[in-house]
Amino acid sequence: LFGHVEPAPKDPILGVTEAFLADPSPDKVNVGVGAYRDDNGKPVVLDCVREAERRIAGNLNMEYLPMGGSIKMIEESLKLAYGEDSEFIKDKRIAAVQALSGTGACRLFADFQRRFLPDSQIYIPTPTWSNHHNIWRDAQVPQRTFTYYHPESRGLDFAGLMDDIKNAPNGSFFLLHACAHNPTGVDPTEEQWREISYQFKVKNHFPFFDMAYQGFASGDPERDARAIRIFLEDGHQIGCAQSYAKNMGLYGQRAGCLSILCEDEMQAVAVKSQLQQIARPMYSNPPVHGSLVVSIILNDPELKSLWLKEVKGMADRIIGMRKALRENLESLGSHLSWDHITNQIGMFCYSGMTPEQVDRLTNEYHIYMTRNGRISMAGVTTGNVAYLANAIHEVTKT
Ligand code: LMR
Repeated sequence: LFGHVEPAPKDPILGVTEAFLADPSPDKVNVGVGAYRDDNGKPVVLDCVREAERRIAGNLNMEYLPMGGSIKMIEESLKLAYGEDSEFIKDKRIAAVQALSGTGACRLFADFQRRFLPDSQIYIPTPTWSNHHNIWRDAQVPQRTFTYYHPESRGLDFAGLMDDIKNAPNGSFFLLHACAHNPTGVDPTEEQWREISYQFKVKNHFPFFDMAYQGFASGDPERDARAIRIFLEDGHQIGCAQSYAKNMGLYGQRAGCLSILCEDEMQAVAVKSQLQQIARPMYSNPPVHGSLVVSIILNDPELKSLWLKEVKGMADRIIGMRKALRENLESLGSHLSWDHITNQIGMFCYSGMTPEQVDRLTNEYHIYMTRNGRISMAGVTTGNVAYLANAIHEVTKT
């Protein structure tokens, strides 16, 4: 019956973790998946999360959440993305549901897009997180790409980006990374975001923000919502996928939120009911534990400020490792420029290494990363940075 089923290709990101785990070498280093590690290379559970869990313990029943998830968690998520005093929240113009982290939020939106705007396409930046392509493919929404990254400068190709926005048919859907672009670590400046927003207005495009790293770009979640706020000020309707995987370290809890800013409350009620309708036959309702952790933390001023401190701590450790990696490469006498390691922001460094160079890192040095040259800076530690720099130098020197 299933004889025709071929093995699926390995996932370009999660497949790296599988290969890393299978390697018995004591020297092995995993800078593949974007998952934060402490300076000893260990996974981190934030103190604010531990405290929230302590408060939950014993008080939690195992009842179903509503199809749309926890109302409290959604309320707190909207404040985080749209602003504490957002008029759109007060006016109940936002349709929002709890989602299975950022991936689930994107997928719900893609399915919604397919169902209600069947002739639309999605413009996706080049490059982007590899799973974006899978998500819109499986939702059967046709994909187009738009220019984003400039390989020579290892920065933003702003002119190319603006051209593609102008040349897309009016009313196109665009996927934008709200902050800490994955994989490049390259974000538009505030001024550039304003120009992008202006052009979106002229073209009547719809921006869908994937905000998987709120807090990881600047260390401050409020600042990292700047791009979204600019679009809101300019009067756009937007969509937004939020994830608590990275900024609360809730990776496996699958806690996230999908929101769509509608024209009025009535429309928001209708849109939310349809999002729930999409969720119901897929997973019925979302998991309860992560949503409780999120709402407890964001709803308690003390826990929230502890969280903000801890997010900043994670972002700062990564910035420190960027400096250390660059300095190590420079002191090894590398003739290449490594400025981009410290210029790029967020969890990743888009190193510019070729797939062949990455293969050498893996085969000769047991260093695991995605073949597009992306280094998860969250996996770099004071203990492995010299080893990593030396290996990078060896495979990149001519
Ligand atoms: C990543 O890009 O490494 C993360 O977003 C993890 C994932 O699911 O791919």
